[in-house]
Amino acid sequence: MQNTPAATEQRYTPVSPEHLSAFSRIIPGRVYTDGEVLEDYAHDWTEDLHFLPEVVLKPETTAEVSAILGYCHTHRIAVTPMGARTGLSGGMLPVHGGVALAVERMNRILDIDTRSLQVTVQPGVINQHISDALAPYGLFYPPDPSSRGSCLIGGNLAENAGGLHAVKYGITKDYVLALQVVLPTGEVIRTGAKVLKNSTGYNLTQLMVGSEGTLGVITEATLKVLPKPSHTALMLAMFPLAEDACDAVSALFRAGLLPSALEFMETDAIAFGQKFLGIDTYPTEGVGGHLLVEVDGNEEAAILRQCERVAEVLEQYRVLDIRFADTAEKQAELWRLRKCLGEAVKGHTIYKEEDTVVPRAELAQLLAKVKEVGRRFGFQSVCYGHAGDGNLHVNIIKNDMPDDRWENELPLAIREIFEYTVSLGGTLSGEHGIGWVQRRYMDIAFSPLELELMRGIKRLFDPHNILNPSKILP
Ligand code: LAC
Ligand code: ZN
Repeated sequence: MQNTPAATEQRYTPVSPEHLSAFSRIIPGRVYTDGEVLEDYAHDWTEDLHFLPEVVLKPETTAEVSAILGYCHTHRIAVTPMGARTGLSGGMLPVHGGVALAVERMNRILDIDTRSLQVTVQPGVINQHISDALAPYGLFYPPDPSSRGSCLIGGNLAENAGGLHAVKYGITKDYVLALQVVLPTGEVIRTGAKVLKNSTGYNLTQLMVGSEGTLGVITEATLKVLPKPSHTALMLAMFPLAEDACDAVSALFRAGLLPSALEFMETDAIAFGQKFLGIDTYPTEGVGGHLLVEVDGNEEAAILRQCERVAEVLEQYRVLDIRFADTAEKQAELWRLRKCLGEAVKGHTIYKEEDTVVPRAELAQLLAKVKEVGRRFGFQSVCYGHAGDGNLHVNIIKNDMPDDRWENELPLAIREIFEYTVSLGGTLSGEHGIGWVQRRYMDIAFSPLELELMRGIKRLFDPHNILNPSKILP
């Protein structure tokens, strides 16, 4: 499936043999044009979207990235930065063809500072590898998207990725202290400083984080890391009604608890996940929704007390059953189930995934609205997400909906869901980004003036609009 950039959008210089020779002079042997490689860089995990780049370039240094961008700026060639292509908003789709700038070879951890608890990494490091490298020092890098075993930190920075422990530990932006960035013109800047607080000038670091590779290519990042808690406890709570599960979420915080993870899964999500993993461990009959609750700390007794408090609160919300994962294996199995949901739904059918986020206490209302819109427009939705963050992933399943309704009517339903989300004080994306697929809804979250300010920022950084064009802004 491919919807193309509108005819009115800017056109770019096609990549010619002469351009390829120039790229080969910059990065000899790392210029790829054969079909199979191009195919690998034509899609991410977003729906079934597919756009072929004209060439894949794999730089290894900041100087090489700078030379490539400087050249493309001069020649008006579109460039799309790429990580592991695990994104869920089409942020890396090379919708204008052009250059796929793959950062995967810039995969070194440059420094582990165990005195100030910081790491400096290149963008091609796999998220999990950062925590693996920190483990011998008793440290970890908290943001952990479900794809952490394969996603790259560069992509995490671009999309301001969240993950499964954001409720206690925050999201990517909360860990970024300083960056080195190559601008679309090829110029190199540094932002921030290796400090935990910084009131010095406009915050270009945070402007870059979450800018989805439209303002620059991050080639180095200094990240804050934390001591790893020694103990965790994990439990799965089952509720007859999904709404009760959602309402219990904010009650936990009001009771003074701060879980390290607090995930919601409606029963259909559990069913998809179990089928995908070939297990039948957790009941779905008579269950409307599940909460996965984790608490962590350094003292076992304190953790047990927290678990008891969690159970007390959940009981006020008609919980049917609470299963404690009392071994490391059972914990791992529960997390496997939770983390596979995206893949499980994707493997089943064509789907669209929305990443709505609302104030935590409004979660039940949002869920009810999604179901109501689904009944009216005739689609099934599978919902799960980071309930502790008010972040609901709404997976709309195509099943046998005819293509024309899928393309033409469904956007109206999604628009309605987003409008309601915003009316609750929420917004379009909590952690997946706007990328290619959600940009047509940006008018719901922003006024024309606000969008124009964003366009002005884009023009300032990228005067020829060559870097990841046609993303974010409608
Ligand atoms: C997750 C991804 C889809 O929460 O964000 O598993
Ligand atoms: Zn998520």
